Amino acid sequence: MTISNVAVIGGGTMGNGIAHICAQKGCTVQLIETSQALLDRALSTIDKNLARQVSKGTLSEEDKTATLSRINGSLSVESVRNADIVIEAIVESESVKKDLFTKVDSLAKPDAILASNTSTISITTIAASTKRANKFIGMHFMNPVPMMQLVEVIRGLATDNSTHEAVVEFSKALGKTPITVNDFPGFVSNRILMPMINEAVYCLMEGVGEAEAIDGVMKLGMNHPMGPLALADLIGLDVCLAIMDVLHRDLGDSKYRPCPLLKKYVAAGYLGRKSGRGFYDYAK
Ligand code: NAI
Repeated sequence: MTISNVAVIGGGTMGNGIAHICAQKGCTVQLIETSQALLDRALSTIDKNLARQVSKGTLSEEDKTATLSRINGSLSVESVRNADIVIEAIVESESVKKDLFTKVDSLAKPDAILASNTSTISITTIAASTKRANKFIGMHFMNPVPMMQLVEVIRGLATDNSTHEAVVEFSKALGKTPITVNDFPGFVSNRILMPMINEAVYCLMEGVGEAEAIDGVMKLGMNHPMGPLALADLIGLDVCLAIMDVLHRDLGDSKYRPCPLLKKYVAAGYLGRKSGRGFYDYAK
């Protein structure tokens, strides 16, 4: 199956990056958001990120213009009708994703693949909200999407081989490296990454070190390109908390309990870079 028409639902941190890379690699993209203001913000982020590639010399001005011309903004989920694949990147909530996919399933072409960019919610569970669980798969892009190599491909219980093969080939066509894993809470990436971030927040809460010290130890001592608290700010603290909640609930082990300080920051609206404040202050 050749994938050339893509619908991306959600134009936030992840969705605008997914739309960007799909359009840059030649696909026609419908980018679906809930309001004109959010759609405008997503499109202007893509424009800015493409301009950065041009200024670095990795993309021509003509390719930037062509990429933008392949992205159509939409405020209606009806725009999934012609898509070969629908990639969902909305809020990390099981019930919201299931409601959306029930609707998408009724609108999309019968042979369209449905993919979720969820960080941790069960692919098998979301797939069960549709009548095509065999054509449902996890496509977990990494943040920032245009820069990061990996697509973690997650097979749900019913995902068939042709869907899996098509998504592996599509990921490669996007210039990414797909790695396939099975459907368990947090998959591989967040099963390992998120407890480390959560433990860094415990270190901060217990006064083991200041944020800069915790991140400094992990960068200089473990050769991580970014410290865990700065990475949490990039991911979004609400997303981190949602992932810890799923790991805690679905694996049933107290070692996954979310740190109270992480909960407090989210309650305060300190969501990281996207809100201007997280473990670090971005207002300046
Ligand atoms: P975000 O909060 O930045 O963006 C979500 C966007 O979806 C918002 O702009 C919102 O208006 C839009 N939206 C919500 N409901 C919608 C609907 N029914 N139709 C159309 N648009 C809708 O969230 P982010 O960080 O982009 O996360 C999206 C998904 O990607 C989540 O499932 C998250 O777990 C996952 N993810 C996030 C990563 C990260 O680093 N932030 C990394 C990998 C996956």
